[in-house]
Amino acid sequence: MGYKTKEWRNSMRVTLDYNNMTDKFLGAQGFTAKKLSSYQSKAAAAWNYVKENRGKDELYMGWTELPYNQNEIVADILETAKTVRKKFQYFVVLGIGGSALGPIMAFNALCHLHYNDLPKIKRKGPKFYVEDNVDPVRMRDLLDVIEPAKTCFNVVSKSGATSETMTQYLIILDLLKKAGVDVKENVIFTTDANKGNLKKISDECGGIKSYVLPDGVGGRFSQLCPVGLLPAAVLGIDIKGLLAGAAYMDHICRQPSMRKNPALMSAVLQIAAMEEGKNVGVMMPYSDNLKFLADWYCQLWAESLGKNETLDGKPCNVGQTPVKSLGVTDQHSQVQLYTEGPFDKVVTFLSLKKYACEMPIPHGCENIPDVAFLGGHTMEELIQAENAATAYALTKAGRMNYTLWIPELNAFTLGQLLFLFELQTAYAGAMLNINTFNQPGVEEGKKATFALLGKSGYAEKKKELDSLPAKDSNCII
Ligand code: PA5
Repeated sequence: MGYKTKEWRNSMRVTLDYNNMTDKFLGAQGFTAKKLSSYQSKAAAAWNYVKENRGKDELYMGWTELPYNQNEIVADILETAKTVRKKFQYFVVLGIGGSALGPIMAFNALCHLHYNDLPKIKRKGPKFYVEDNVDPVRMRDLLDVIEPAKTCFNVVSKSGATSETMTQYLIILDLLKKAGVDVKENVIFTTDANKGNLKKISDECGGIKSYVLPDGVGGRFSQLCPVGLLPAAVLGIDIKGLLAGAAYMDHICRQPSMRKNPALMSAVLQIAAMEEGKNVGVMMPYSDNLKFLADWYCQLWAESLGKNETLDGKPCNVGQTPVKSLGVTDQHSQVQLYTEGPFDKVVTFLSLKKYACEMPIPHGCENIPDVAFLGGHTMEELIQAENAATAYALTKAGRMNYTLWIPELNAFTLGQLLFLFELQTAYAGAMLNINTFNQPGVEEGKKATFALLGKSGYAEKKKELDSLPAKDSNCII
């Protein structure tokens, strides 16, 4: 594999602990060994499906090969990142959905939590923003803190037809023109190789530096291609480490037995739980750095599995609602519900064995035992104790939960987590017998937006919208 030593890689292995899903810990609410074994053949079929179809662009499974087939692209990205870091004071990603959540997640996971507020000398790159909305206030406020002429804009869109991204682009294009800046100097595209509007725009401008969002890679599976790698490299993140981590997890998950394959086992646990009415999947990292990994996961899980038709055309309405929750913050907001509310949830903890720093808690308030006991411990001990205590409280209340243990947070372990979740999603989709990689439910909203804004070709859709009954004023109170 060539990334650090084998001992180091093994010491960084992300592991799955699903004890708290079993009857041994949950009593009647938990899965018996027999129950889990009953999923063996379904799991084997899902594993085979992924094995047989990996790399197939026509099935949108090109993402499985990203850890292996990007040497030249990575070298090019690293060169570009070096230039961007030298030349620009700001780096802005224009994109939405899969094009935005990955870059935000990696930024938050592996950079200083107040990165943009650090003095330049302490940052490894330009100030960093991801504009993943079309809220006018957000755009105004972004423009208040950047200088377009000193900004590199990375426009990320596979289709180049996404209204949000293209609106952001039109605004930036206008500003660059007004500032007398050649678009080619300040813009990088990440888009489809051959088709799509960004390709056309680039050709018209005489060639804008462009990275390819490969054919077989959908937005939510794109963090490990240039969509995520370019912004990460600009931030000084070790992108080779990300890919090596993904390859390491892929290697572990090449094992067909669900008892040895953490992605397959977590897919089985979730599917078995869904079949028992656990329609909510809570992703709860005990790390501020992983807060946006939960966001990224929510899109992956929701958009991939929320489907109304099986692959053989039967109606189904499947999926599980993912919810993000941050430990310990949300112990003081949501855990009451998780512990005593309906038995409809599975909680996944993302737990760090070691945090990037220790923060000793000084002695003090010696006359107040309620406070004094904290002195002499560290914040790391406290957050880990609270994580263990929450898992204990949930388990005691018969609530399903399991933990992904992360030795420490770095590019290699983050790469493992990304690939584990992608594989878990692909296995779960195969078990549900659905198309994991499309999003027809999102398309309808896109079309209605086009119709409302008068895009040509959408007159029929506009008529359909206009034919809705008039609102009943009695229902507006
Ligand atoms: O996961 C997905 O496929 C979506 O979230 C897309 O990434 C999002 O809709 C943006 O699409 P595009 O890359 O075509 O602009």
